Amino acid sequence: MKVAAVVLAAGSGTRFGGDKARAALAGRPLWRWSFDALRAHPRVDLVGLVVPGPAVAEYREEAPQAAFVVAGGQDRTASVRIGLANTPDDCDVVLLHDAARPFPSEATIDRVIDAALRSGAAAPGLPVTDTVKRVAEDGVRTVDRDGLWTVQTPQGFRRELLVLAYESLRGSATDDLAAAEAIGCVPEIVPGNPDNLKITHPADLELARRLAASGPGIRTGLGYDIHRFSSDPDRCLVLGGVRFEGSPGLDGHSDADALMHAVTDALLGAASLGDIGVHFPNTDPRWRNAPSEVFLARAGELLKESGWSVWNIDVALVAERPKVVPRSAEIRANLARILGIPEDRVGLKATTNERLGAIGRGEGIACFAVATIGPCHGG
Ligand code: CTP
Ligand code: MG
Repeated sequence: MKVAAVVLAAGSGTRFGGDKARAALAGRPLWRWSFDALRAHPRVDLVGLVVPGPAVAEYREEAPQAAFVVAGGQDRTASVRIGLANTPDDCDVVLLHDAARPFPSEATIDRVIDAALRSGAAAPGLPVTDTVKRVAEDGVRTVDRDGLWTVQTPQGFRRELLVLAYESLRGSATDDLAAAEAIGCVPEIVPGNPDNLKITHPADLELARRLAASGPGIRTGLGYDIHRFSSDPDRCLVLGGVRFEGSPGLDGHSDADALMHAVTDALLGAASLGDIGVHFPNTDPRWRNAPSEVFLARAGELLKESGWSVWNIDVALVAERPKVVPRSAEIRANLARILGIPEDRVGLKATTNERLGAIGRGEGIACFAVATIGPCHGG
């Protein structure tokens, strides 16, 4: 048995106010959530993408795992036709899924495949539980909600039936089941998952953000850095953007702010975005003596662009000298300002190394940091 899935991402997102399929949600663009869910499903053999024409090349680069990436049409029906034409002739079931729904569950996909095999056409749905009213000019009337369901995607079909349905269809269908109904098929509605929501308006993405924050949606990153004291009398010690006049400075390409570097790495690590060396190579003259605030600010931006927000950071500095705690309020305020988070989400402790090892002998300063991040709107 062969199952092909088509993820429809060619819409223009008029009601959302932009290309919602590419909106960032917890480190992944929206389209990738359902693309990954379908690819990970043990019964789905291939997943293709239907995307806006101008974005085909970019999607091909971003999704080498896609069975095909093709340009969509004027409306959803046209995009489905194009997607369907690109599915292999020999597949038994075709699943049509809106990229705008990031959370189809494995069980929902399973139920749709089973029902499509049984009945030729199937969709996940939920029985309407709210009271339903028809609001018209001549008054408001209660609609009998008995038997009313809201319908989600993926919708599943035996391929030959879907081909026939779309060959027979004139104009556009409101959904794919409607095309099958029009040729006399009686589709099956199976239970969907309640969190299989569709992103239509910006507020829907806020809800998706909260759903993504449960379970693996929260991430932690660890950062570490160590710098040797410099023999250059002109270098000033800088920790967390605070200058310690009179203390010997640290050696390094930039301002050698080990604390800021550790926090930057913790953030990049939490979001799997590489490390400080990847983004700011010390061979690049732009970063010579650069204030490390630039690195932290850029890491904050990179996270935001990927759909993450910083929940908290915590820092453990290891130094025999100078005393850091008297300046800790300034350091915390700096980090909070650069990252745009409240100061109470920034922790800072300092300890000596009990004269043990290189740090204990006062040869340098080391710093550990952890960062916790969670999904944010991210634009
Ligand atoms: N879709 C598509 N091709 C189109 C129109 C829509 O592939 N020509 C896809 C969308 O990308 C989306 C799904 O169909 O994943 C459901 O459509 P909808 O939620 O209406 O998205 P948009 O059409 O992008 O939004 P709007 O109607 O607000 O413009
Ligand atoms: Mg639309």
